[in-house]
Amino acid sequence: MQNVPNPPMTLGVNIDHIAVLREARKINDPDPLMALAICAQNGADQITIHLREDRRHIHDEDAKKIIASSPIPVNLECSINADIIDIVCRLKPHRATLVPENRAEVTTEGGLDVISKSAAISDAIERLHEAGIEVSLFIDPVINAVEQSYALDADFVELHTGHFANVYAMLNSALPYSHHTIKELDIPRDELKSQLDEALNAVRISAEHARSIHLQVAAGHGLNYQNVRLMTDIHAITELNIGQSIIARSVFSGLADAVKEMKQLCQR
Ligand code: PXP
Repeated sequence: MQNVPNPPMTLGVNIDHIAVLREARKINDPDPLMALAICAQNGADQITIHLREDRRHIHDEDAKKIIASSPIPVNLECSINADIIDIVCRLKPHRATLVPENRAEVTTEGGLDVISKSAAISDAIERLHEAGIEVSLFIDPVINAVEQSYALDADFVELHTGHFANVYAMLNSALPYSHHTIKELDIPRDELKSQLDEALNAVRISAEHARSIHLQVAAGHGLNYQNVRLMTDIHAITELNIGQSIIARSVFSGLADAVKEMKQLCQR
C-alpha cells in the first residue's frame, strides 16, 4: 500500500505582542515590521495581526505597512464593527478573521457568537468578499458554530483552542496557564484528564465536520511548544496561528546575543 502524505500544516505567527512591547514605551522599537521580516525568513507561512478597536497594540499605520510589504499572506483579525470593516476593506489584507472584542479583555476570550450576531457577521462577510478579501470566523469548537459559519458563507473557520490549552496547562502544572483558571487548580487529575480528552475531541470533531462541508480549518489561542503536537495530529486542521508562546520564547532565545552585543559595545 502506498503511503498517503499528511496534509501540510501552515504556521501563522501573530506579532501583536511585539507591538504590545513597543506600546509599553510608546516609541518605535521593537518594530512589528522587523518581526515580520524575521518571521518570513524563518518559516512563517503567514503573519497575523489584530487591529483592535482600541488600537492598544497594532495601529492602522502598522497594518498598512505590513500589508504593503509582506512577502507572505497577512491575516488581519478584527471585530465586526462597521467602521473597522471599512478600514479593513481599504487595507485589503489577504484574509480577515472576525473575532469578538471586548474592551476589558486582555486577549480574545471565546469565539464569535455566530448565532445572535449573524446579521452583522453576514454584512461584514459580504463587504469583505466584495473587496476581494477571504474571510475566517474565530469560533468555539462546537458543531452548531461550524454549521452557522458555513451558512454565513465564511471561507475558513479558526477554532478557538484556549480551553484545550488551559486544561493541558493545568495537567502539566509547570507550564504557564491563564490566570483565569487559577481558581480551578484543585480539580482532581482524573477529572482534568477527561476534560482534556473532551476539549481535544471538541476541536477534532469540529475540524473534521468543517472539512467535510468544505470549510478550511485553522486553529489558535494558547498553543505552545508543549501542546502543539496534539493539534498537528488533527489532519483536518491545516493552519495554526500562534503568538504569545513564540514571542515569549524569543525573549529568552534572543536575550543572550542582545546582552553580549551590548556588553561588547560598552567596552571602551
Ligand atoms: N488566533 C486568534 C483569533 C487570536 O485572537 C489570537 C490571540 O491574539 C491567536 C490566534 C494567538 O493566540 P496566542 O497569542 O495565545 O498564541
